[in-house]
Amino acid sequence: PASPNRPLYEFHTQTAELYHHLLVNTAAGQGALKYLLDRGMTRELIDQFQLGFAPAVADQEVLVNFAKEQGLEYDTLRSTGLFRLDQDGQLHDRFVDRVMYPIKNERGQVIAFSGRLLQAKGNEQAPKYLNSPETPIFNKRFVLFNLDEAKKAARQTGQLTLMEGFMDVISAYGAGLKTGIASMGTSFTSEQIQIIQRLTSQLVICYDGDSAGQNAIRRALQLLRSTAPDLSLQVVQMPAGLDPDEYVQANGGAAFVRYYEQHQVDPVAFELAYLRQGLNLNNQSELLSYLEAALQVIAQLQQPMAQGVYLNQLASEFNLDLGTLQAQLQQIKPVVT
Ligand code: GTP
Ligand code: MN
Ligand code: MN
Ligand code: MN
Ligand code: MN
Repeated sequence: PASPNRPLYEFHTQTAELYHHLLVNTAAGQGALKYLLDRGMTRELIDQFQLGFAPAVADQEVLVNFAKEQGLEYDTLRSTGLFRLDQDGQLHDRFVDRVMYPIKNERGQVIAFSGRLLQAKGNEQAPKYLNSPETPIFNKRFVLFNLDEAKKAARQTGQLTLMEGFMDVISAYGAGLKTGIASMGTSFTSEQIQIIQRLTSQLVICYDGDSAGQNAIRRALQLLRSTAPDLSLQVVQMPAGLDPDEYVQANGGAAFVRYYEQHQVDPVAFELAYLRQGLNLNNQSELLSYLEAALQVIAQLQQPMAQGVYLNQLASEFNLDLGTLQAQLQQIKPVVT
């Protein structure tokens, strides 16, 4: 018996083909194609990820027209999430004048889209990225962009790489780092963590090198520790002001992969670096408050050996007595998380 969702999958597959065709083969797609090429996308990547374009054509809604040709039922079309309803219940294309990113499930079936504005061009209130709404085949808490490809790469490398944006994942892929995945928008969920845990034992977080990215890393680490305590975690802190995509554009793919491989630190080292930034550690009181915060982080480590490693580091870096640090650490009650 055919699954009731089958027409939804089929319509998404066809829509991805249509948007891709409009991007690469038609005059309507020329501006969007130029936009993508200008920001470093290659034709190979555009094909690999089946990037597309949803044009703005007056009175000629491409997806509405396409759906009419297919003769699909109104209720089916409605449940694809690819249309918006007007006050009369009429369907209109949801995505207009946007670069289209097909979102696939773990099996590689297209289940949703994200559409990016080419530029703000005056309509500042419109979101930069617009996602499909939740549908019978798209529950965004469970979806990770590029998971179908990344899980194959993870079998070779033993790790997955969590990034913020679709563009980061695509550029990293072009650079040869094919383990990239991204959550839908800003929220990273425990459902996504369960899926990651099933596919790999090691996750590398490589978010944007801005303060929003740093805070997102800390939130992700917290959720990961409570949801998947056995998952091994590494953090790559990108240089200030660059996300992985921008790093590839600025320095090339090979340099990005090198940076990625050489800047993986464990969560404690990340946390300590985070705590000390902006502090003047030559100032006695700033140093003391840093040490206090650092000991709090170290106290939460489960293994005494790991605690010892970081205590030693602190002692030698700031020329402190190890015994004193140990005594101070004993006074901190471990915070149960
Ligand atoms: P680009 O300009 O395309 O490189 O994006 P960015 O690097 O500025 O994206 P940013 O770091 O701000 O956001 C990372 C991810 O968050 C994107 O890939 C989107 O998935 C999501 N995101 C960003 N802006 C929006 C938005 O306006 N709405 C929604 N729903 N998601 C967004
Ligand atoms: Mn193609
Ligand atoms: Mn960001
Ligand atoms: Mn970014
Ligand atoms: Mn970006």
